[in-house]
Amino acid sequence: MLLSVPLSVRSWLQSACACLLLCGFSNYCAALRPSEFTPPTINISLDQDPEVRWKPLSLHFDPEYLKNASAQVIDSTVPRWVHQAVKPIVLALEKYIPQPYAGEIRGLAEHIGGSLSDAIILNFAYEVSAFCTSIITQDQNGNVYHGRNLDYPHPVLRNLTINVNFLKNGKVAYQGTSFAGYVGLWTGQSPNKFTVSGDQRGSEHWWNWWKNWVSAFLFRRSPVSWLVRETLENAEDFLDAVIRLSKVPIITGVYYIVGGVQAGEGVVITRDRTGPADLWPLESINGGWYRVETNYDHWKPPPKKDYRRDVANKALNVTGQDHINMDTLYQVLSLYPVCNGITVYTTVMSAAAPDKYNTLVRLQGCLP
Ligand SMILES: *[C@@H]1O[C@H](CO)[C@@H](O)[C@H](O)[C@H]1NC(C)=O
Ligand SMILES: *[C@@H]1O[C@H](CO)[C@@H](O)[C@H](O)[C@H]1NC(C)=O
Ligand SMILES: *[C@@H]1O[C@H](CO)[C@@H](O)[C@H](O)[C@H]1NC(C)=O
Ligand SMILES: *[C@@H]1O[C@H](CO)[C@@H](O)[C@H](O)[C@H]1NC(C)=O
Repeated sequence: MLLSVPLSVRSWLQSACACLLLCGFSNYCAALRPSEFTPPTINISLDQDPEVRWKPLSLHFDPEYLKNASAQVIDSTVPRWVHQAVKPIVLALEKYIPQPYAGEIRGLAEHIGGSLSDAIILNFAYEVSAFCTSIITQDQNGNVYHGRNLDYPHPVLRNLTINVNFLKNGKVAYQGTSFAGYVGLWTGQSPNKFTVSGDQRGSEHWWNWWKNWVSAFLFRRSPVSWLVRETLENAEDFLDAVIRLSKVPIITGVYYIVGGVQAGEGVVITRDRTGPADLWPLESINGGWYRVETNYDHWKPPPKKDYRRDVANKALNVTGQDHINMDTLYQVLSLYPVCNGITVYTTVMSAAAPDKYNTLVRLQGCLP
């Protein structure tokens, strides 16, 4: 990783410096530890062909490093014999993958290195084993803030995290946070319209995900992270986004958390494959000024050993609606075990203030 090392170190230094500068002036410092860094930002032009638009990745990542890192992710997700066995199946499926994703994945395999089958497997490997926390909140003036932790059991993803600007006619059409080599989005915003994050629902195992692909392509269902990207690209506003994210068929259940630009525009959508199972909106008037979604249906108690929801709820109660903002939301997302050993990054965002979109990578996760 010839190029990304100095970049990471530079961002690390910037964070460290920002922390020193801010220390005396604000409580933000408490949340900004030297073990956090800002990931590189990459511009992807949607005006270019899908096959070539991810080329700018090679400005930030050495192809050899990416090849090795992808292999690590695949090795830790898919047993080796399954990996060998599915290669021909994966290549046969390639012609069923819709555009622009097929072209983008083919381009990634060509320009970033690695085989086409591995580039495809990698894009599906990320569809499993994501544990996450998303929070949507509203302050007393009606400003909506949206935060998320993304948890994956692959430490190498910390070095692959990128912010991506998707440009149309040279302007940012939408943006998000992703991993080098991955074409979907789990976190993103359409500036001045809405923000979206996705959290895994239920636990899927590797032996299920080939079924997911087949169902995806036979039934023309979308992987959950592709629907996020399509929604960011096409939805007109918050309501349009909520409708699309609720009803378009997807390959597996998921929670979509959506924030808008006006008071009351915040909702947790619990998804089944074919449609919505539940909509859980903000109801500020009745004390529902925040919603916390981890990886369990909100109307059921979570398993005892996973108490992230309770810790986040308590911390938000202590913070209070009069003190919620992007910084205090970040602090809630920094509390153990909301942030934990496998937390890769934290994003805070607010569609009405798109310039404040902020992702920090947790170099070591968080410890008790
Ligand atoms: C990645 O690189 C390291 C050190 O360079 C090596 O030990 C490891 O085997 C490589 N991993 C894979 C999956 O290629
Ligand atoms: C991530 O990159 C750093 C250097 O920037 C390196 O020390 C570390 O080993 C890498 N981590 C993984 C899991 O590859
Ligand atoms: C990315 O595109 C934006 C919008 O056109 C521009 O302001 C910014 O300088 C570009 N960044 C890079 C790294 O090219
Ligand atoms: C947070 O406050 C609400 C409203 O007062 C209350 O219903 C809820 O039980 C509190 N949650 C926790 C975890 O303290």
